[in-house]
Amino acid sequence: MNFQLSEEQLMIQQAARDYAQRELIKDVIERDEKAIYPTEHIRNLAELGFLGMLVSPKYDGSGMDTVSYVLAIEELSKVDSSVGVIISVNNSLVCYGIEKYGTDDQKEKYLKPLARGDQTGAFLLSEPGAGSDATAQQTSAIDMGDHYLVNGVKNWITNGNTASTYLLFAQTDRSKGHRGINALIVDRHSEGISIGPHENKMGMRSSDTHSVQFTDVKVPKENRIGDDGFGFKLAMKSLEGGRIGIASQALGIASGAWELAVKYAKERQTFGKEIIKHQAIAFKLSDMATQIEAARFLCLKAAWLKDQGLPYGIASAMAKQFTADMAMQVTTEAVQIHGGYGYVKEYHVERLMRDAKLTQIYEGTSEIQKIVISRAISDGDI
Ligand code: CAA
Repeated sequence: MNFQLSEEQLMIQQAARDYAQRELIKDVIERDEKAIYPTEHIRNLAELGFLGMLVSPKYDGSGMDTVSYVLAIEELSKVDSSVGVIISVNNSLVCYGIEKYGTDDQKEKYLKPLARGDQTGAFLLSEPGAGSDATAQQTSAIDMGDHYLVNGVKNWITNGNTASTYLLFAQTDRSKGHRGINALIVDRHSEGISIGPHENKMGMRSSDTHSVQFTDVKVPKENRIGDDGFGFKLAMKSLEGGRIGIASQALGIASGAWELAVKYAKERQTFGKEIIKHQAIAFKLSDMATQIEAARFLCLKAAWLKDQGLPYGIASAMAKQFTADMAMQVTTEAVQIHGGYGYVKEYHVERLMRDAKLTQIYEGTSEIQKIVISRAISDGDI
């Protein structure tokens, strides 16, 4: 077993760290407060190759491995996890499906601009009544011969307004249940699409979350990915990789909060010494470090399995559930260590704590991950 990162992986990690610590940090508090989308940063990160980091250079991506993806998303999310989720959704939930299952024309027309980061993508699975129960899709895509006619509402869509390309899931044949769901690539500017107001969220406030309504939207038949009825399987396959991205984001939120807590504990004095010298604080930092390291190994293991072409769905569910729950605990402790200072915005940790909460909810709640893991136990896969 080799725990050594390659030179290339270390370089990518360093590039992400440099960008986060030099650039993202400057305006992260203002972007959080005013819920401003990080347009300029996304453009810069696209130039550095992060928007299509998992896509092959053949389709204008950077062709990096999934281990590098974990390292980069961790570093970016230490400072700004909204940037982390934008990059994760683009790579894992949108580019992945088009690259793996799309036609040459779809790759040429849609994947290349997404991989370059000239455009971003959004993944439209959730609905007002279909979140955890993703098969309960109400949005319909009626087969009209040369096109589908789409009607319905999608909810909680990351990149909902800024994305140019939607990967939409909709029900074509209700009698077939989840086997009647299709995945369609939709131009966000198609006639009949209207975007709901920006969601005023607790955390990840500079990521762009909206509902999207479809009214008689025509989607050409050639925009379907895979065979008729392949949509639900595509969504599940994509989420296996997406969960590695969100686990890495949660890892970054936790390790960012831990680094701030260590720095503060070495500076802040009480009862005549730095608070890190009080065992109450030292043991907290020690527990936090161990939890973060355990989570990091789960994230890297899932990424490594994916890079080896081995099954990674169970590993990604474990990584996401453990890391998201850990991030909530670690950020709460980071605020506690900061005392009153932790409760105000200038010290960053309150934001990280608010951001951590969402990692337990989206791309499958912690409870959904436990369903995936426990079913694998029942099936004898673990
Ligand atoms: N890969 C491929 N196929 C899979 C699969 C996987 N990992 N998991 C399930 N499937 C297939 C099954 O084989 C089955 O197909 P067949 O009947 O043809 O064999 C089909 O999918 C249905 O599977 P289940 O019977 O297991 O379905 P279920 O209703 O019991 O639900 C679930 C399974 C795991 C709970 C699933 O519904 C789920 O993951 N829910 C959570 C949804 C989710 O993560 N939403 C996130 C929204 S996206 C988001 O948050 C993005 C963002 O913007 C940040």
